[in-house]
Formats: sequence, structure tokens, C-alpha cells
Amino acid sequence: MIILGIETSCDETAAAIIADDGRILSNIVWSQTEHDAYGGVVPEIAARAHMEHIEDVITRALSEANITLAEIDAVAATAGPGLIGGVIVGVMTAKAIASVTKKPFIAVNHLEGHALTVRLTNDVHFPYLLLLVSGGHCQFLIVSGVGKYQKLGGTLDDALGEVFDKTAKMLGLGYPGGAAVEKLAIKGDKHKYVFPIPLRGRDGCDFSFSGLKTAVRLKIQEIGELSEQDKADICASFQYTATQSVLERTKAAIQQFKIRYPDGKHFVLAGGVAANEYIRGELQEVLTQNQLELAAPPLKLCTDNAAMIAWAGIERYKLGLTDSLDFEPRARWPLI
Ligand code: KG4
Ligand code: ZN
Repeated sequence: MIILGIETSCDETAAAIIADDGRILSNIVWSQTEHDAYGGVVPEIAARAHMEHIEDVITRALSEANITLAEIDAVAATAGPGLIGGVIVGVMTAKAIASVTKKPFIAVNHLEGHALTVRLTNDVHFPYLLLLVSGGHCQFLIVSGVGKYQKLGGTLDDALGEVFDKTAKMLGLGYPGGAAVEKLAIKGDKHKYVFPIPLRGRDGCDFSFSGLKTAVRLKIQEIGELSEQDKADICASFQYTATQSVLERTKAAIQQFKIRYPDGKHFVLAGGVAANEYIRGELQEVLTQNQLELAAPPLKLCTDNAAMIAWAGIERYKLGLTDSLDFEPRARWPLI
């Protein structure tokens, strides 16, 4: 079985062709650079850029996979949640292809794409504990099957990637700036500035990063003219504090996961922030102490891409879960 996946929910226009045995026949991601000047994604610009690039991206995905539309078995597209203009572009394109080729259409929840991708690349079985951390999402889920999710906690305000991006913006490191913050943090002293660890001592698995963001902003204002070393120290101290919060919440989430699934083996990290080596390293220690194995898709599949949408499509298709061409794109679509 071969599936074409389409992703357009934020600022990546992406198409991929995946086989159900896990072969990635192609995985094309066009990252829109139109937003760089604005320090964030501008929805209108994103929607227009998706329209301009989608055809070319799909054509490239087909040609790299050396396949024609007639040879695919179904078309899967992100149908939400996301910036609605972009989601509409992807869904309409997928429906048009499905309609012309008379192949099934599968509406994929973007979060489900992130949640299931690890099964494309790693030998991971249900149930597993998932930490999904990206620019738009920040939550713990127990994944016990396709469509079977249980949310243990989420962010009360900013997502983890978002607060990395805002820190980067305050330091003039560009957008999106998570990777730049991590890189600069290597040169900094993580104990130079003491920022409050969010929700310290509170039970549960929720996150909150707005207080940390404010503390970073106040420190930057207090220092005034920033040297490169000041910036590095701020990055390191911020990253350290955010990670401490992630570790505390992870311990709480593991406890809850183990109560329900004492034999659960895997902890899966997904979303763009999974690229962060420092966070991965620190998490690894906590997981080892709790006899859980860390599994994360390769970096290219952690950030937004269409391979994850095609794979979620395969998982759904195998269970007979296809959708009607009436399925409406959704700006909001909680997994549970
Ligand atoms: O999954 P993704 O591509 O898009 C969303 O669905 O949001 O994630 C992008 C997010 C951005 O906030 C970006 O700054 C962050 O992931 N990110 C990182 C790193 N690489 C990407 N954050 C921290 N450290 C990194 N190395
Ligand atoms: Zn995403």
C-alpha cells in the first residue's frame, strides 16, 4: 500500500509518499521563508505561499518516488488543527486528487501525525507515553492505539517551542529560533541567571512558560546592552530552567502512565523541540531511572513534514478509517 501525504497546517508546504512497510519513497518539505521578516508566521502570507508551492511540492514528491498518481492507494492530508487558510489549501488539493483518481481520502489530525510517526521509523508498540513539544503544541499523551489517546497534561499558556522562539526573538536570534538558542546555550553558563522553575512543586503534568518568558524579558531589560556572552548565558540559563520543568512534569507523567500500564516500555518524544540535544540528554537520565526507553523519530521527521501525515494515513487506512469528501477543514481539533 502506498499513500500520498500532504501537510500545510503552518509554514511548511510538504508532500510525501510512504509505503506501508515503512519505506519513505519521498519526503519533500518546502519551508516558507516569507515570514522571517515578521518574527512569526503570518497566516495570510502562509496560505498564499501554500497555494503557490503545493503543486510543485507534490509533483516533486511523485517524481522522486518515481510513481504516478494512479499508483497511489489513498491520499491523506492534515485537516487540522492549524492555520485555517493553509489547512484548506492542503485539504482541497487532497480531495481534488482523491476525486479525480477515485482513491480514498483520509483526513489526518496533525497531532496524530506527530503522535504516530515514531512507529514509521522505530519498533514501538502501543501503549506508549508521548511528550509532544513543538511551536504550537506542548502536551503529554498516552497513546494506546490509533485514535486512542489520553491527555495527561498540557500547557496553560505558551508551548515549549514558542517560548524558545520568543527568547530567540528577544535576543535577536531570528525566527524560528529554538535551534539558535540551543546552539548559543552551549557557550553559556546555565547557572549564571536563576530563573523561576515554572509550576515548581505543583502536582500534575501541566506546563506553564509565560512566567519564565517574563523573567527572561526582565533580565534582558535589566542588563541593557547585551554582549555575546550575556546572550549565551541567558540562552543557557533559560534552557536549563525550561528543561528542569520538563523533567519534573515528565516524572509526574511517568507515574501516571505506569499506574495504567505498568509494562509500558517506551517514552516517545515528538515535535520540533525533540531536536534539542540538551533536553534529550537530560530526559534520558530520568527515563533510565524509570526503566523506560526513549524513542524519537529522526530529526527530519520531528519537525513538520508530510511523511508523518502519510504514515498516520496508512495507520488509519489499515483500520478502514477513511473520510468523506465532505470532511471540513478544522482550525481547532483537539485529539481528545
Ligand atoms: O513541529 P514543528 O516543526 O512545528 C510546530 O508544529 O510548531 O516545531 C517547530 C518548533 C519551533 O518552535 C522551533 O523553535 C522548535 O520547534 N525547535 C527547537 C529546536 N529545533 C526546533 N526548540 C528547541 N531546540 C531546538 N534544537
Ligand atoms: Zn507540528
